[in-house]
Amino acid sequence: MAVTTPNATEALLTCQADNLVFYQSVRAYHWMVPGHVFFTLHEQFEQLYTALTASGDEIAERLLTIGATPVLTLSDAVAKATVEEVSPKNWKPDQMVQGTIDGLGKLLESFHNAANVADEAGDRGTVALLEDLIQQFEKRRWMFQAYLGSNPAG
Ligand SMILES: [Fe+2]
Repeated sequence: MAVTTPNATEALLTCQADNLVFYQSVRAYHWMVPGHVFFTLHEQFEQLYTALTASGDEIAERLLTIGATPVLTLSDAVAKATVEEVSPKNWKPDQMVQGTIDGLGKLLESFHNAANVADEAGDRGTVALLEDLIQQFEKRRWMFQAYLGSNPAG
């Protein structure tokens, strides 16, 4: 079994819960996006929730690798998550993109926190996984920021 601590396990469980709750929000954006940008955003949201399916699976399997039980139910995920659920009925497209940027921000905070705690625990495997996910989801967040014209690089 990999070296880790209860704190690192708990932080990684929060990442998994955040990933799952955010996944469902992005799926809802995919279904509910209205108007002339439908084809663009419907596709982009699909790409994002597909990536979140993969990251959620990687995190859950890392938890099993370090001897923990992943989050198994939706109610446990909602209880443990720091990401808020959204119900985007009648939302405008830009509101959905802003919700995506905000959700990615919370998810990245959760990944950063877990990476720091795992680093203190000497759990290099978990750090490596989270660093890969941080890099990937920072890039995805940048693309949604660029869509809104709010790219930090101007
Ligand atoms: Fe679909």
